[in-house]
Amino acid sequence: MSKIERGTVIDHIPDWKADTVTKVLRLDRQALMESNASVAILQNVVSKQLGRKDIVKIDSWRVREKDADILSLVFPGVTINYIEDGKVTKYRPTVPDLIEGGLKCPELSCISNAEREPVVPKFVTLKPERLMRCHYCDTLIGFDSVPEHVRT
Ligand code: CTP
Ligand code: ZN
Repeated sequence: MSKIERGTVIDHIPDWKADTVTKVLRLDRQALMESNASVAILQNVVSKQLGRKDIVKIDSWRVREKDADILSLVFPGVTINYIEDGKVTKYRPTVPDLIEGGLKCPELSCISNAEREPVVPKFVTLKPERLMRCHYCDTLIGFDSVPEHVRT
């Protein structure tokens, strides 16, 4: 399992959920090609804490804190490791009170989905309920369904 020199390591992902992580972080083919980043996906890795886990290593790419926070809605236990010159700095994601951009409201008639002059999607989080509410149309999204609402 090779180390990286510079980039981001997402650790403590629940077993077999690496694909959901790359989806939420929008690490698609186009993004990787444009930035010359590489992704290594490790699955079913032995972990003292979780039994088995997945790890995603992204070489030459820094996951934005804001995207890491959105990821933590779905997987509260993930750890974000920023690597510079082979050295690790940990970032502990937190659930934001307000999520601006990044996610798409599922309500087609929502003003954030307007074809002309759409507004930036905004969601207020209801942490104990693991829900977020659209600031404009009050539609509710469960934290677990965030991967289906990522803007592509
Ligand atoms: N890592 C890497 N390349 C590096 C340094 C670390 O790919 N140059 C990876 C490690 O393989 C590990 C993660 O980044 O999956 C975190 O590294 P580290 O903090 O050294 O490991 P732990 O102390 O085990 O982390 P934790 O306490 O979060 O479990
Ligand atoms: Zn809405």
